[in-house]
Amino acid sequence: MHRTRPRKVILDCDIGWMNDDCTATIFALKSPELQVLGITPVAGNFDLNWETACALRLLEILGREDVPVCPGFDRPLLHERGDYEDQVWGEWATFKPVDSIPPGLPSIEPDPRYACDFIAQSILENPGEVSILAMGPLTNVAVTIRKYPQVVPLVDELIVMGGAVATLPRGHGNITPMAEFNFWVDPEAARIVLRSGAPIVLCPLNVCRRTRFERQHFDRLTSAGSAHPEVAELFRGYLQPHFDHPEVDKESPRLFYGLYDQIVVAYALRPAWFTTVLMNVDVNVTPGPEYGASYGYTNAPYQSGLDQWPLDDGSQVAKVAHDVELEAFVGLYVSTLTE
Ligand code: BDR
Ligand code: CA
Repeated sequence: MHRTRPRKVILDCDIGWMNDDCTATIFALKSPELQVLGITPVAGNFDLNWETACALRLLEILGREDVPVCPGFDRPLLHERGDYEDQVWGEWATFKPVDSIPPGLPSIEPDPRYACDFIAQSILENPGEVSILAMGPLTNVAVTIRKYPQVVPLVDELIVMGGAVATLPRGHGNITPMAEFNFWVDPEAARIVLRSGAPIVLCPLNVCRRTRFERQHFDRLTSAGSAHPEVAELFRGYLQPHFDHPEVDKESPRLFYGLYDQIVVAYALRPAWFTTVLMNVDVNVTPGPEYGASYGYTNAPYQSGLDQWPLDDGSQVAKVAHDVELEAFVGLYVSTLTE
């Protein structure tokens, strides 16, 4: 679909300092084809107050203090931290004091509106025009749907980085053998969202694992001729030490970074570059080793005459984006950040 005006988007994310949510946010803010209505941090990769400070400082550095930051939930709906949670990645609900962040604390304040109220208000004021780019646990989005169910049919698209679909290639988990981080942090929220009937595009680990950000991309992004020197500086500060590490062979770039949350921004911009399939998708919320695991299927049971498997009669169909034109995507990412 050709759009004549920028797409209105809300970035719901567990942003840190120069993590994938953060660079995806820069990608969205620098794209002339997107109008970022606001950023709604949610606990996930980090504790909420840390994330909020990172979002505000990023906006200051980019000169985009016009974008409101509306913090949301500081913990998942039900998932409590335990021994395993303390050992694996994710500092959600640790409630650490935020006395410093790498670029220095921001001097601007968050918007007083609560994330869910801001999301609903934005959709109600712009019916059919607002897309949510969800890059963290789905707590904010699930509560928005519960509190304001009238927004569900009014969302343009809900583009979600989350889950891993084992019936498609590259579909194993990354935080447990079967679960992907965002869905595992708040499986109940993911289930509410996936079952809501909203127009969902799911970008699971399957597509993220196709991506590579290599030395050649880093060199372009940080080149002297960049039209966005402040962005080049951010990337230099964060990635240069990694790419310059003596063990990295510059001739054959073994070091690369996956682009995860950047995928949802790219989908909002160039959906035609993605391979998609309609699938029933759902999330396991039963405590135990499969907690937070997602699954998806297209086919009905063999010779059953049924349209869908009977075990999950509440699941809905989502568009699952499981592959991408890699060079085009990385090219767009780099050019948006440099031109
Ligand atoms: C997701 O988990 C987070 O750590 C990343 O930011 C991304 O959203 C990948 O599983
Ligand atoms: Ca994220």
